[in-house]
Formats: sequence, C-alpha cells, structure tokens
Amino acid sequence: MATISWHKGCVKLIDQTQLPQKLEYIHCRDVKTLWQAIRRLSVRGAPALGVAAALGVLLGIKSFPGNDRKRFVWHVDKISTYLATSRPTAVNLFNVLARMKQVIRCYPEASVTQLKSLLRKEALAIGKEDRRRCRQMGSWGARLVRSGSRLMTVCNAGALATVDYGTALGVMYTAKRQGKKFAVYACETRPLLQGARLTTWELLKAKIDTTLICDNMAATLMRQGKIDAVFTGADRIAANGDTANKIGTYNLAVLARHHQIPFYVVAPESSFDLSIATGQEIPIEERNREEVLGFGGRLTAPQQVKVYNPAFDVTDHALITAIVTEKGIIRPPFKRNIQKTFRD
Ligand code: MRU
Repeated sequence: MATISWHKGCVKLIDQTQLPQKLEYIHCRDVKTLWQAIRRLSVRGAPALGVAAALGVLLGIKSFPGNDRKRFVWHVDKISTYLATSRPTAVNLFNVLARMKQVIRCYPEASVTQLKSLLRKEALAIGKEDRRRCRQMGSWGARLVRSGSRLMTVCNAGALATVDYGTALGVMYTAKRQGKKFAVYACETRPLLQGARLTTWELLKAKIDTTLICDNMAATLMRQGKIDAVFTGADRIAANGDTANKIGTYNLAVLARHHQIPFYVVAPESSFDLSIATGQEIPIEERNREEVLGFGGRLTAPQQVKVYNPAFDVTDHALITAIVTEKGIIRPPFKRNIQKTFRD
C-alpha cells in the first residue's frame, strides 16, 4: 500500500480524511487539486508532504507547452511558490522544492523536454529514497525497543505519513519483524485525531498490540509505570535539535522527563533545517477554528467562543533523549552531533 504515488500522469493518494471508515484514493490531475488535498490533510505527515511537493511539480509541468527554457524555469518557480503556501511547518516540503529547482540549475544547457524528464526522474527518486530511509531508520530505532516494553506515540508518524513505512511507527514495524514483543499506547491527538484515526488503524493492520488513549491520559499512564519509551516523528528539526511536531508532542516530552522515560524523535535528513539555529525560528501553522469547535459536523463548544488552534509545538532539544535518522542515532550534544552526522 503506497500512501502517495505517481500513477498515469496523476498523483494518486490515500484520502486520509476518510480513514478509518473508508480506504479511498484521490487522483489529483492538477496542482490546485493537490494543493487543496495537502491543505485539508488528505495527504499529511512531513515526509509524505515532501513527496507530494515533488509530484506536484510534475503535475504542474506535464502540459507545459513549447520549448522556451526561460519561460519553463519561471513556470517551475511559480508552481513551487504556490505549493510552498500549502502548509508552513514541515520543512520536507521546502527541502524537496529546493531540490527540484536545483535540478534545473544543474543542467543549464538542457532543453525543456530534457528538463521535464530530469524532474520526473528526481521526483520518483525522492519517493524511492523515502521508502529506503524509513527502513534504515526502522533498523536503527529498533535497537532502542526492548522486548516487553510499552511505547507511547502521538499523531501519526507511520506509513500514512510517508510513502509506505513510517518513521516512529517504522521503528515499531522493524522491532515487530525482529520478533520483539511490545505494546503501543497511541494518543488520540486532538483536534484532528491522527492518532486515533490513523495510527491505531495502521498498528492494528500490522497486528501490533495497540491501546488508544485520550491525550490527557498520558501523565497518568506514565505515573503508573506503564510507559517505557516515547517515539514521535518530526516536522522540522533545528540545528540545535529543537523539534517541531504535532501539537501535544511537547507535553509528552515534559512528562517523559518528569517520569524519567526516554523520549525519541525519529526523522530523516529531509526533516532537518540546519539554516535555523533553534526551534524559535520554526513557523508554526495555525489552523481554522472549526477544527477545535467540533468534530464530524457536530459542535462540541459554543459557536461564539474564542479558539486558538496551533497545529504544532516545539520540543526543546534538552528534553530529547536521541534522534533516530537514516544515518544512525544522534545523541546529545545535538548541535555538534547533528552537524557531524550530515556533514559527511
Ligand atoms: O498535521 P499533520 O498530520 O501533517 O502532522 C504530522 C505530524 O506531526 C507527524 O508526527 C510528523 O509529520 C512526522 S511524520 C513521519
């Protein structure tokens, strides 16, 4: 099952807003349809957003007419700028768009036809890399899972957030394949319930012992000694290791520190933003009030109440035990070790 793929000139993606009730696919035939799918979270999760951006560029260039290179470059810039407005926090989206534009810069003599084919090759390679990197992170991260342990996670950092395997949940899939026995507590992840709707759906399909909890139950479970480690994904990691992830992640990190439970972040290189020194510089998406006011078309609060709806929070690097990447496990001091990991 691929969350997102290039299929007969369209971007085919699982409509995650329909899960767990229905497994339905959307075929995006133009950039605007894909942009809207990203904005309403039909496709979501940082690595999947990167792949979506790459395939979005392919959608935008497929019917570009003529062979005027200058106009083509301008057109790719325009598509990229538009796609970049879909969601602000996951840096994968921006890293991938920069990478697509870099292809054009690397081939100053290439014709439009050649550029189209080079961009297609790059976009498909980005998807393949995602699959490979998730498995590499899985292998590194599984070393941190002891048999018999109870793990906690938030949001969805699984196959649905990547092409087909996941980051934090990828670690669990690998640990399971290695024959380790463990249980997972999934936080439901208000307001849009990615944990309840997506993570439990995935983990049950993988036959992993899964228990759903409301977000506000995490502290109690930790105090009861029922959690041995927390694993989460990341949307953007600053040069010092500060990590933006789904709102509620920071709560778990603070709780984990208080209860002396290791807190692990699992993310590929494309989720790092080494151009920013700390998490204070990470743009945090604010979403609309309706997401908090109710669910499934039903109001759960007075319509006129004021609402604040930041979609992500930033976990201070000091609260993170280690960051699992495709290149290995990075431990503190993060600033130095992140640089060392990605320099070579
Ligand atoms: O708003 P979402 O559902 O896109 O948020 C996703 C997350 O916060 C994930 O944990 C993160 O992107 C890592 S996915 C491997």
